[in-house]
Amino acid sequence: MKDCVPNIYNCSVLELTRIHNPSGNITIVQSESVLPFDVRRVYYLYDVPGGSERGGHAHKVLQQLIVAASGSFDVILDDGTMKKTVHLNRPNYGLLIVPGIWREIINFSSGAICLVLASERYNPSDYIRDYSDFKKIKDLADAG
Ligand code: TYD
Repeated sequence: MKDCVPNIYNCSVLELTRIHNPSGNITIVQSESVLPFDVRRVYYLYDVPGGSERGGHAHKVLQQLIVAASGSFDVILDDGTMKKTVHLNRPNYGLLIVPGIWREIINFSSGAICLVLASERYNPSDYIRDYSDFKKIKDLADAG
C-alpha cells in the first residue's frame, strides 16, 4: 500500500485534557492544540437500541474525532486492506478518523453517547456508503 493512501494506522486515540475535580471533571478539546482540523459540526448519537450498528460508510474529505461521552462502544476501522477495533469507554479519550476509512460502530452500552466533532458541515456527497465502491476506490488509489 502506498504511504499517501490513508490507512488504519493514521487513525489514533488521543488523550484529551481532563481537569479533575471532586465535584465533576471537565474535558476540553481545542482545535489548534489537539485536533488537526477546525470543528465545523458537532453531533451525537444517543438512545441507541441494544444490538444496533451505526456508521457503515467512509468519508472522502471529512475528519472526525469520536468520543464516548457516556458509556462505551466499539469502532471498527477498515482501510480496505487492514481492520482494527477500537474500544472507547472514557470521555477523555477520542478516536481521530482520517478520510478514506470505512467505519462501523457496534456494541453500544446502555445509555452510551457517541459524540462526534467533525471537520466539515454535513454533505451527503462526501459519503461513500457502498462497501464495494469503497473497495474499488481504495484498490485504485493503492495501484496508482
Ligand atoms: P448517518 O451519518 O448515516 O448516521 P450513522 O453513520 O451514525 O449511522 O446519518 C443518519 C441520518 O442522519 C442520515 O439520514 C443523514 C442524517 N444526518 C444529517 O442530516 N446531518 C448530519 O450531520 C448527520 C451526521 C446525519
